[in-house]
Amino acid sequence: MHDDRPFLAAVLGNPISHSKSPRMHNYWLNKNQINGYYIPIKVELGDFEKTIKSLINLGYSGVNVTIPYKLAALEIADESSKTAQKIGAANTLIFTKEEKIYADNTDAYGFIKNIKSKFPDWDPKKGASVVLGAGGASRAVIAALLSEGSNKIVVLNRTIEKAQELKIEFNNKISVESWNHLNEIVAASSNIINTTSLGMNDETSVPINPLSIPKEALISDLVYTPLETKLLKLGKDRGSKIVDGLGMLIYQGVPGFEAWYGQTPLVTEELRKILIK
Ligand code: ATR
Repeated sequence: MHDDRPFLAAVLGNPISHSKSPRMHNYWLNKNQINGYYIPIKVELGDFEKTIKSLINLGYSGVNVTIPYKLAALEIADESSKTAQKIGAANTLIFTKEEKIYADNTDAYGFIKNIKSKFPDWDPKKGASVVLGAGGASRAVIAALLSEGSNKIVVLNRTIEKAQELKIEFNNKISVESWNHLNEIVAASSNIINTTSLGMNDETSVPINPLSIPKEALISDLVYTPLETKLLKLGKDRGSKIVDGLGMLIYQGVPGFEAWYGQTPLVTEELRKILIK
């Protein structure tokens, strides 16, 4: 049993000051009246493993891990979830009583939960999904869609070679098309998911012809600054279902909180407002 010391967790990355995770977990700690802390830690390159070992020695329950340590987090784990292995990266580490490291990746969970919280009947098995991008976020989305039984996933990426690598990693369960075919692929898709950084801060946008967006499609954008990206605005104007990226960020935090602090936190509108600020 845990004595009366506070429960401790952290988020490790570099940079880290922009992370919304501390605000989120400390909100949940307050709401649940838990004696615990969650702090951001900037880790210099080369110091990741050393930092993890120190936190274990200090009695931490676990950590979130963000860029650039998601691969390293999986590598140093003693055990890892199937999802983390499939994605090839971990964002949540749980330190066990035996001081072992268990690695999970909750991004896929967050992606699905976020959509289902808004559209409970959403079923990615119905119709094709197009995933824009081939980075870490794309891997998590592909793993999530496959775990939901989706059997038609098309990946488009500016650098097609990266998408082709993903196709091999996911045992040919996805197909790859040229970025130049964006509009025609989108027109044939029920789910359109942007995992690229296009649309961030409204400086760029996904170069899509609004008329190619099927009215009945669901559009999910992982970018959450702004909350309503140009892509989502286009989808909204078409009458499509739209899902912003803030929910995924919130839901991916739930399994870690449960593991470290022992309670299930609530995803509320109040929390969304606090994180938007
Ligand atoms: P993450 O881990 O968040 O997925 P990442 O690995 O850096 O981040 O991937 C960023 C994605 O955004 C990539 O798919 C990238 O395409 P490239 O592989 O061609 O670089 C995509 N991206 C970034 N800027 C882009 C742009 N201006 N046009 C198209 N795609 C872009």
